[in-house]
Amino acid sequence: MMKKFRGYTLDKPKIRCLVQDGQQEDSKLLLLDEKVQVLTSLSEELQEVVRSEALESCPYELSLGYNYLSTQQVLKKLLPVGVEAPSSFECVGHIAHLNLREEQLPYKFIIGQVLLDKNAQLKTVVNKTGNIESEFRVFPMEVIAGIHSTETEVVQHGTRFKLDFAKVYWNSRLETEHKRLIALFDSEDTVVDIMAGIGPFAVPAAQKGCTVYANDLNPESVHYMRKNVELNRIRKNTHVFNMDGRAFVQLLLASDERHAKSLPTGEAATARGSNEVEIPDTYRPQDKGLLFQHAIMNLPASAVEFLDAFRGAFNADRWKDHPLPTVHVYTFKKGPETDEDVISKVEHYLGGKLEESPVIHLVRDVAPSKLMLCVSFKVPRAVAFWRSTAETDGSILECHHLHEDPQNPSSSPDGVQEFSSLKRQRIEQSEST
Ligand SMILES: C[S@@+](CC[C@H](N)C(=O)[O-])C[C@H]1O[C@@H](n2cnc3c(N)ncnc32)[C@H](O)[C@@H]1O
Repeated sequence: MMKKFRGYTLDKPKIRCLVQDGQQEDSKLLLLDEKVQVLTSLSEELQEVVRSEALESCPYELSLGYNYLSTQQVLKKLLPVGVEAPSSFECVGHIAHLNLREEQLPYKFIIGQVLLDKNAQLKTVVNKTGNIESEFRVFPMEVIAGIHSTETEVVQHGTRFKLDFAKVYWNSRLETEHKRLIALFDSEDTVVDIMAGIGPFAVPAAQKGCTVYANDLNPESVHYMRKNVELNRIRKNTHVFNMDGRAFVQLLLASDERHAKSLPTGEAATARGSNEVEIPDTYRPQDKGLLFQHAIMNLPASAVEFLDAFRGAFNADRWKDHPLPTVHVYTFKKGPETDEDVISKVEHYLGGKLEESPVIHLVRDVAPSKLMLCVSFKVPRAVAFWRSTAETDGSILECHHLHEDPQNPSSSPDGVQEFSSLKRQRIEQSEST
């Protein structure tokens, strides 16, 4: 009968059209569409079936309530005219992350509750309450429904990550990018992740077999990165650091004791917010610096500015038989900027020309006229082995335009400054702020 009556039966998601007859134990009811109020509205053929099979018709009442309706249907009923229900939300483990509009804010608690009721995997709903302003790239949020815990666990391509969404940077939209970059690494490679967050590049790279040196300035990110190293059992090939990215690069590349001593440590290195510079027990400085194949810098708002850390930091003797590493630096391209502008910016902060055209990969549209890019290039030899004039003949160091604003070349007072004194100034400045 179900087959014969196809096209006339009740067709609603999750509702069966064949139900037990409440009146007669040995018979069943075939529910017809609400539109079929009388049997005469069936086709001639079906009316004949009704007669020949001696089928009877009766009214049937079906109540579809809160449990049956979708989030959108419920909120459409509950919210006043003119206030739309949020159309989507980001899911981070058990947390739903909303970005409510001004007119939705008076109804935030009911919106949160409906989302919780309708999505069994959710335990907490948070709403973004402001823009990212901290250097740790964490945005302010408030819990609007559910349990007040923002610690959760997410899985990306089979790798488990613990994190506290209110304390560390996490963006599920970068999942494809994390996978893309890791696919470029060979299992024998050594990978240096300079702004590693809780480890979405570092942990899977180590799982692949790479030796990983991962750093972040945010002590909370480092706390969770360590947990993720344990969780994914990659302790033997992962070294986790908590320091400023520039100091980290220079620490890894430090050639000898003298060089290492000149690094900003202690108070200077902690000036940007970390509690203390922690060199992991597993870290053994290598004579004339670490050899590595890839460096990742995912802090798109300012990572390019850290490229000066590579300048003159490589020991020529140590690297003479090895190709220089590939840097993957993330940045934004805004408004009318072209790829050439992006390359100029990279060269500007590196302090030298690239030897080959870089690979520029579009990661995602962040906002209208704002694209997130990954620029991959080999560190140029002239930059890597740059030696100050002072080191070679004892005179004043020269570093043309290295730290001036690329948009405004005249912003440097005379365009010539001592490279290491600039680094010192930067550290002193950050200490005073
Ligand atoms: C955009 S997040 C990227 C995190 C991670 N790589 C990912 O893909 O999810 C940038 C990270 O840079 C860290 N950070 C900010 N300033 C830093 C600095 N001076 N040195 C090292 N890390 C820094 C932040 O704490 C944050 O975790």
